[in-house]
Amino acid sequence: MTGQPNPSSQLFERMAVIGMGLIGGSLAQAARSHRLVRHVVGYDRRPSETEQALALGIIDEGAASAADAVANADLVVIAVPVRATESVLRELANKLSPQAVLTDVGSTKQSFVTAVEAVFGGLSSRVIPGHPIAGSEKSGIAASDPALFSRHKVILTPDDNTDPDALTRLCSLWSGCGAKVLQMPVARHDEILAATSHLPHLIAFSLVDTLAGEDDNKEIFRYAAGGFRDFTRIAASDPVMWRDIFLANRDSVLAALDHFSGDLQRLRLAIEQSDGDTLMRVFSRAKAARDHFSKMLSGQAYVTTMTQKNLIFRLQPGGQVRGDIRVPGDKSMSHRSIMLGALAEGITEVEGFLEGEDSLATLQAFRDMGVTIEGPERGYLRIHGVGIHGLQAPRGPLYLGNSGTAMRLFSGLLAGQAFDTELTGDASLTKRPMARVADPLRQMGAEIETAEGGRPPLKIRGGRKLHGIHYNLPVASAQVKSCLLLAGLYAEGETSVTEPAPTRDHTERMLSGFGYRVQREGATARVRGGGVLTAAKIDVPADISSAAFFLVAASITPGADLTLRHVGMNPTRVGVINILQAMGAKLTLSNERVIGGEPVADIRVQYAPLKGITIPADQVPLAIDEFPVLFIAAVCAEGQTVLTGAEELRVKESDRIQVMADGLEACGVSTRVTADGIIIDGQPLGGGLVDSHGDHRIAMAFAVASLRASAPIEVQDCANVATSFPGFVALARKVGMQISEEHS
Ligand code: S3P
Repeated sequence: MTGQPNPSSQLFERMAVIGMGLIGGSLAQAARSHRLVRHVVGYDRRPSETEQALALGIIDEGAASAADAVANADLVVIAVPVRATESVLRELANKLSPQAVLTDVGSTKQSFVTAVEAVFGGLSSRVIPGHPIAGSEKSGIAASDPALFSRHKVILTPDDNTDPDALTRLCSLWSGCGAKVLQMPVARHDEILAATSHLPHLIAFSLVDTLAGEDDNKEIFRYAAGGFRDFTRIAASDPVMWRDIFLANRDSVLAALDHFSGDLQRLRLAIEQSDGDTLMRVFSRAKAARDHFSKMLSGQAYVTTMTQKNLIFRLQPGGQVRGDIRVPGDKSMSHRSIMLGALAEGITEVEGFLEGEDSLATLQAFRDMGVTIEGPERGYLRIHGVGIHGLQAPRGPLYLGNSGTAMRLFSGLLAGQAFDTELTGDASLTKRPMARVADPLRQMGAEIETAEGGRPPLKIRGGRKLHGIHYNLPVASAQVKSCLLLAGLYAEGETSVTEPAPTRDHTERMLSGFGYRVQREGATARVRGGGVLTAAKIDVPADISSAAFFLVAASITPGADLTLRHVGMNPTRVGVINILQAMGAKLTLSNERVIGGEPVADIRVQYAPLKGITIPADQVPLAIDEFPVLFIAAVCAEGQTVLTGAEELRVKESDRIQVMADGLEACGVSTRVTADGIIIDGQPLGGGLVDSHGDHRIAMAFAVASLRASAPIEVQDCANVATSFPGFVALARKVGMQISEEHS
């Protein structure tokens, strides 16, 4: 070690590590090399290990006994096999200072608590069980690695009585070694580890033993392929350690093992009965879960929101907008294609599916309800429909991420099922109003519980008989309309919905495409329950809501000339085109056609000076998702733009009126916010620091703003762009925007 120790970073004066194995040695080495402790004493019951640790510079001092090691220590780490814990604690009990923090590194936590209680008669506030989830098949002091914990998780299991100062210092020690510290109760830790670590080790040991037992010469391994090697790597782990872990975590392991054995028996039966459908269902659900897990591990997705990574967009002012592109598939249609495909008879094929987090949440929820879905692979899916009554109860709550559409449509669809369900989502979704669907569904006979204020989670009771109602929508909402039409499939008699203004009608169109009769007269749509959906082929066009960012980008950038291909032009979605044209934008449509019941076109956009307008009230529901970027167009236009009748914007993924006004202000643009809209005068755009509040469309709108900004713009909290527009940054760069992303 070189340089002077920095005393302020030293969390403990004297750390005693009992047990000089891989974990104990690595922790001692990491704590020393990061100067987190002033002095490290090591002890191992085999003197040669202690000596080696000293010789390798892993510890400052070797002790001759556990008791000597802990004398005067203010941190004691027990790093012995879990079954040896109690006897080691007895050896050192007399010398342990009452002020010392006592922790361990064992893979089971109740066993540590039990040992401490047995020796000391209780758990003092300075005992904090711990478990670094970082091991390797290697063991012993010679394998010590100070980087072993870097970017690995460490679980601490404090309780209500734990001394906060001791906890803070122990957390800092682990994070100083590069680990990410998590906290949870002891029982939860043991359950989770039984399922995710102990059970896989048991299976690996057992499988290798089964194969080896059949063949004394181990000849069979010569033919084993990579799958065997990958799958059984952990069977080379330390047998003593694992014996101890299974005995120490008996109850949780048995519960996990019983669960797994039941599932394995079901697969056995499926093979015996040549039941390929069950195999497909289990394998495709497992594949999806594994793919999801890989993405989690590599830090891409879904979980971008769950792992709390702050994704930042950095934008240089200026840039150009030129080229020929296709934006990803329509989000509304992607959700509906899965929903109706799952409930249909037969196999539905989908092309152009949006592989964004929102529609993937819907897809996962159907997998959780027993539907086999192949893909997505570059937007292609095969959904093995289970029929309108074929869904199965999910094992737990359905997690719908950021997606209001998924939650509202699911509430209707699930109100008529035979089983109970619970719908949950992320922090933004948890704030959004659900009474607008729960109230009319209750009128239909559904039993739905919401959290306070009509917010998620939603608990939907199964087995209720629904009956059709007529409902006049109090707000123009396609989600509420669609929710009721989907519930109507399960209701006795007719369900009809009248909307105060036209909203997107993908549900009605797609139901018809699946052969389900939907009557539409003026503002009213009706369905009768008890029908059948027949599998269909669906071509999802590019999402006009995603195209909107580029429509505005090109419209405000001198010299721009951009073509957007295969854009959905459903008349209930083209508000953004009508509004931009009224502002003077130069848009040229070509190749107009109808595909699978939905109009589609290519759109060429060239720069044209824009002027402010009063946005016609009837265009508001038709452009409801496009206002964030239309506000940017308004800032770049000459004159005043006035929006009214848009109070719905306040309950989207964020309060889009206020959040946009705040972001614009941060870029030197003043606006006037009203209860149901905003007034924006055309004016120069500066640069600044914008908080998107995790709202994908706010983040992308400010990316577009940079094209006319006079200084750099930095947008915070952009991970949710992946909900609707995966690949946005790459596409924006491709057309000439000066955007980069950064994780912080
Ligand atoms: C959607 C309807 C709209 C829209 C949302 C998608 C749909 O919501 O904002 O992004 O797919 O039905 P509301 O129904 O709340 O207006």
